Amino acid sequence: MLRTHNCNCLTTADAGKKVTLIGWVDTVRDLGGVRFVDLRDREGITQIVFNPSNPGVHEVAKNLKSESVIEVTGTVTPRDADTINEKLATGTIEVVAEEITVHNVCAPLPFPMEDDKADKVNEDLRLSYRYLDLRRPRNLNLMRMRAKAGHAIRNYLDEQEFVEVETPILFKSTPEGAREFLVPSRLNPGQFYALTQSPQQYKQMLMVSGIERYYQMAKCFRDEDLRADRQPEFTQVDIEMSFIEREDIYALIEGMLKRVWKDVLNVDIPTPFPRMPYQEAMDRYGVDKPDTRFAIEITDFTDLFKNSAFKVFNTVANTKGCVVRAINAKGLEDITQGELTNLETIAKTLGAKGLAFIKAANGEWKSPILKFFSDEEKAALKEKLNIEDGDIVFFAAAPWEQASAILGRIRLEAAKLLQARGRLEIPADKYNFLWVIEFPLMLWDEEQNRFVSAHHPFTAPVKEDVPLLETNPHAVRGQHYDIVLNGVELGGGSIRIHNPDMQKKVFEDVLKIPADVVETRFGYMLKAFSYGAPPHGGIALGFDRLVTMLAGRTSIRDLLAFPKTQRGQDLMAQCPSAVTPRQLKDVHIDLRDEEQL
Ligand code: AMO
Ligand code: AMP
Repeated sequence: MLRTHNCNCLTTADAGKKVTLIGWVDTVRDLGGVRFVDLRDREGITQIVFNPSNPGVHEVAKNLKSESVIEVTGTVTPRDADTINEKLATGTIEVVAEEITVHNVCAPLPFPMEDDKADKVNEDLRLSYRYLDLRRPRNLNLMRMRAKAGHAIRNYLDEQEFVEVETPILFKSTPEGAREFLVPSRLNPGQFYALTQSPQQYKQMLMVSGIERYYQMAKCFRDEDLRADRQPEFTQVDIEMSFIEREDIYALIEGMLKRVWKDVLNVDIPTPFPRMPYQEAMDRYGVDKPDTRFAIEITDFTDLFKNSAFKVFNTVANTKGCVVRAINAKGLEDITQGELTNLETIAKTLGAKGLAFIKAANGEWKSPILKFFSDEEKAALKEKLNIEDGDIVFFAAAPWEQASAILGRIRLEAAKLLQARGRLEIPADKYNFLWVIEFPLMLWDEEQNRFVSAHHPFTAPVKEDVPLLETNPHAVRGQHYDIVLNGVELGGGSIRIHNPDMQKKVFEDVLKIPADVVETRFGYMLKAFSYGAPPHGGIALGFDRLVTMLAGRTSIRDLLAFPKTQRGQDLMAQCPSAVTPRQLKDVHIDLRDEEQL
């Protein structure tokens, strides 16, 4: 190597040694003739001293630009007691430069590299120069953390006798699930591949092949609208096993996450994780991925308002499938008008007709709808919601699913407002893992006027619910589970259908996919299941999300080396981008006129 040591290892024990270091110029200081350069590599920083008594190197040091790459040879020298820097691993020494080579002069930086300043820089600018953004030690450490987590997972699964298998990325377009990226085939005019949304079907084929225990750090591609926790390409820890039941997956994943948290953070997470049925999660927290780190919960008042003088609640309470529910955002009575309007807007985007509330202060309640409430109703609200001075209660009167979604969201927003006021503390190292179980197999899709799979169409129904497939599909529970951490869905999976007749029935009779479509899309799968398919099941964890949680960050973009923007662009390499007419012709594609695009 060009160097004898890295920039984080020299101490007084090395005093007198002649060393060569190479790295980036972190800072340059000039103290009355003597020049000090903090030289940085991925491991740390070493201070280099350029003395005027050595004019050759001193002259070069004069013009050093931040982030240039230099190589320095010199002698390790203990620092005077009063110049020791306790914060640096190398803070007891410095290297007195004797030779210097400038390998690369850095152009003027597009943004400052110090974390406190860089974090405030527009993300698009940072992503255009992602190589510089990543060079910041904190961000490099995120990459190393990601690698370490990957290692822990691979080691664990290897010990559990899993076989890592790579599956194709060019796959077949399948109708269920997210929108796919299409790839035109040059050799097969007019035909397309789809990039795999997940290796779901391949891993099931591997079970039919007898692999028994498969895993893959699998790249997945989904043409979705992006959010802080979604990217168009992302990585799954993808797992499938034969001859198992749900309990086996729970134990495997609990062991794996325990291992990752131990290896990466040296934190012991308690297992087994609690489990919560989907219905309970929706009823208490309004979402299927509840953040159980704080206590605000939803309370049902449908029965209470069946005879109410408040028309809105009365009507809703007497409508089948509808509920009147409330949460008490304890201590948020001083919510500002702006914050309240914002909450109302959020509720309305989720379909709410309004967001009724009651404020309690100085022994009195204030609310636009208070005049409609009977003493009995007020007493019940006060008791069940524990309403005290300083509280604000929010109501949702709507169909069950919608009311859950509204209050679930208001709950999270209220928690944010309470945190900002210092009234709700969520310790950074609190890890509330949770299995959400007993999902319905199917959800009714109003738009399509048919059932859609709650997870995916390969999920097996709970055995005792199978007869209900004919009579009451809505009541059938799926053998599906999600692993949730602090309100984030880390992963999901299921026990699969391995009987071809059952799979066909789900496709055709329950999901109402026409028989010919089933044949063209899934025919090969049904066929494979008639050649000795073992009982099997699995799970996939979003690896980017997992490492984001480990790192205590909120955007998965921070944990991807080269993330895409909300518009799906790589600003550094500048793609997607136009291609030549020749390339298009090769793949048999005509673009519409530019104006039409
Ligand atoms: P699912 O679609 O639930 O299941 O995906 C599993 C996990 O992958 C992560 N994830 C994402 N991460 C980042 N960006 C995205 N766009 C994105 N989409 C999903 C989430 C999610 O929980 N084949 C099934 C799994 C199985 O049944 O075994 C599947 O893909 O953390
Ligand atoms: P209205 O009588 O429609 O003016 O509503 C009175 C109050 O109840 C207002 O604060 C509305 O925002 C609220 N409200 C109306 N409909 C609902 C609903 N379905 N759920 C919750 N609050 C509502």
